[in-house]
Amino acid sequence: MKILVTGGLGYIGSHVVVELQEQGYEVVIIDNLSNTSIDVLDNIKSITNIEPAFENVDVRDKDGLSKFFNQYPDISGIIHFAASKAVGESVNNPLLYYENNINALVYLLQNVQDKEMSIIFSSSCTVYGQADVLPVTENAPIKPAESPYGNTKQVGEEIIKDTCKVKPNLKAIALRYFNPIGAHESAKIGELPLGVPQNLVPYITQTAIGLREQLSVYGDDYPTRDGTAIRDYIHVVDLAKAHVAALSRLLEKKADENFEVFNVGTGTGSTVLEVIAAFEKASGQKLNYKIVGRRAGDVVEAYAQTDKVRNILGWESKYSLEEALGSSWVWEKRVRNK
Ligand code: WQD
Repeated sequence: MKILVTGGLGYIGSHVVVELQEQGYEVVIIDNLSNTSIDVLDNIKSITNIEPAFENVDVRDKDGLSKFFNQYPDISGIIHFAASKAVGESVNNPLLYYENNINALVYLLQNVQDKEMSIIFSSSCTVYGQADVLPVTENAPIKPAESPYGNTKQVGEEIIKDTCKVKPNLKAIALRYFNPIGAHESAKIGELPLGVPQNLVPYITQTAIGLREQLSVYGDDYPTRDGTAIRDYIHVVDLAKAHVAALSRLLEKKADENFEVFNVGTGTGSTVLEVIAAFEKASGQKLNYKIVGRRAGDVVEAYAQTDKVRNILGWESKYSLEEALGSSWVWEKRVRNK
């Protein structure tokens, strides 16, 4: 079976490509290389000994996308990662996000709406905002998005749901990720450090390796066990395996509905200070940090209720927080040749 992975040279995409190849799928990657490097293609091959087909296609390029599907008429499934994903950037540049995350999704669907196609959509727990009840279930209300990025995930799910309603040959699953961290055990793929990291874990590893002076902890006055915010940090390889489980559910025609959503997290919440302590234990490095004010837009607490993904997809996370942070540290050292 041939599977298209859009954004397949990106952080999560590359880990999913490795898992797909290891499960025997033939993979075709499209990526415009705007937030990654072509070297990731060789790095994937160095892990699996299989070079995925690669086409430099920008999903915003309507004609380029149609040309791609004419060139590859035998795609059975699509895992769609190609999108912009920085919350802060989306506030300052909303049209970039609506073009790259919404227009592109419409063009993708227009190319496959009359084919038998299984689609896995990269969504996010951001759609819940601050959930009223923790852990978060898939039935938690979708709240007004707090950023254009979060809005594109909410709208993206609706676009796919509405399309699948009238195109019975289209089946889709949206995976609502919590906080992906870590890197493949080979340390040959991981989160490429492009610019100043917005996310906690890459900032931690870059501080520990000496690239950043000090980590700023955004607020310790939250109503949590130690005052810092709580998130559900999931190893990217666990997350990648969830994608393969979701895809096979669709390819094997086991889905109950044309459109389903699943929360993908460990089911455990960790505070920022707990992440720092776990990193120090996993790496043996003392971390230089200071407490500063809260970051605008942050929620207090978000971690997944994982009954649905475990009972229906038969998936659950395997790596511990410490193991995930240890893999992030090994990756950081390799990237810096240390
Ligand atoms: C985690 C915690 C920060 C940086 C976002 C998106 C989500 C997904 C993951 C794309 C928070 C604190 C962070 C720092 C800190 N993105 N923090 N100092 O905001 O939970 O989720 O990234 O798919 O959709 O919303 O992740 O890693 O930015 O923050 O104290 O330098 O770490 O305040 O509590 P977040 P994050």
